[in-house]
Amino acid sequence: MTTSATETHSAIAAYLLNREPYYSEVSGEIDIFHSAAKLKMPVLLKGPTGCGKSRFVQSMAYRLGRPLITVACHEDLTASDLVGRYLLKNDETVWMDGPLSLAVKHGAICYLDEIVEARKDTTVLIHPLTDDRRILPVEKRGEVLKATDDFMLVMSYNPGYQSAIKDLKQSTRQRFLAIEFDYPPRDLECQIIAHESGIDPAIAAQIGKLGEKIRNLKHHGLDEGVSTRLLVYAATLIHQGVSPQQACAAAIVHPMSDDAETQRGMHDLVATIF
Ligand SMILES: Nc1ncnc2c1ncn2[C@@H]1O[C@H](COP(=O)(O)OP(=O)(O)O)[C@@H](O)[C@H]1O
Ligand SMILES: [Mg+2]
Repeated sequence: MTTSATETHSAIAAYLLNREPYYSEVSGEIDIFHSAAKLKMPVLLKGPTGCGKSRFVQSMAYRLGRPLITVACHEDLTASDLVGRYLLKNDETVWMDGPLSLAVKHGAICYLDEIVEARKDTTVLIHPLTDDRRILPVEKRGEVLKATDDFMLVMSYNPGYQSAIKDLKQSTRQRFLAIEFDYPPRDLECQIIAHESGIDPAIAAQIGKLGEKIRNLKHHGLDEGVSTRLLVYAATLIHQGVSPQQACAAAIVHPMSDDAETQRGMHDLVATIF
């Protein structure tokens, strides 16, 4: 291997997961993803924040033995950020592959997290990668990259944030298989909380119950339910010795809302459970 080939090799090796992420399947999503990977189809993961989408992709990347390159999309994300750019290095201009090029060349899973946040020119890049051409035009170099067999495009999207400007266009969404995520069913969520935090299953069950009650407050001051992530945070604090009231205030009530009345509603629920 030449030096630059060795460098690229280690650059991609850094994206391989060396430990199996803990993931508890909800309903057949593992098989669907395996089929999509085999058939080289792109996948869209839909669902509210903190319900297990990223953990699922990590788990699938591990199962498939493919590197995982995650890009957190934001409104300033440009095509160059994804594809690559020329950089000045010791008075020389050198080309630096962006995450998407890296994934296309080395058969990684490229996970575009919160795709609707990205600028519209990124969708232009994605389209030719999602049909049977599987190509990535690299405009600045005047070349076109053909995706290797193991390359897979995965995007996440929260339909709850839907607004006229931030909706995913039909021309984009109809290129993907979609898997719908939601908070795991109560029993499974309690197991997840217990596993992730190390807390006693009985306390995990109380937190799971609190989660369900807070989710019922949706449309009463809350736009979205409490995430599994926040329930895990609360459990982790309790496991560290913080009192349940303080843990739930810091991990659930205060992150979820700034409105005093909505907060009071949640504090009351905490008080009835603990
Ligand atoms: N099915 C699941 N199996 C294991 N952990 C889960 C599962 N669903 C949610 N979690 C927990 O919830 C947390 C948030 O999930 P994450 O995948 O980061 O959410 P998002 O949907 O925002 O990508 C994870 O770190 C994990 O602790
Ligand atoms: Mg995520």
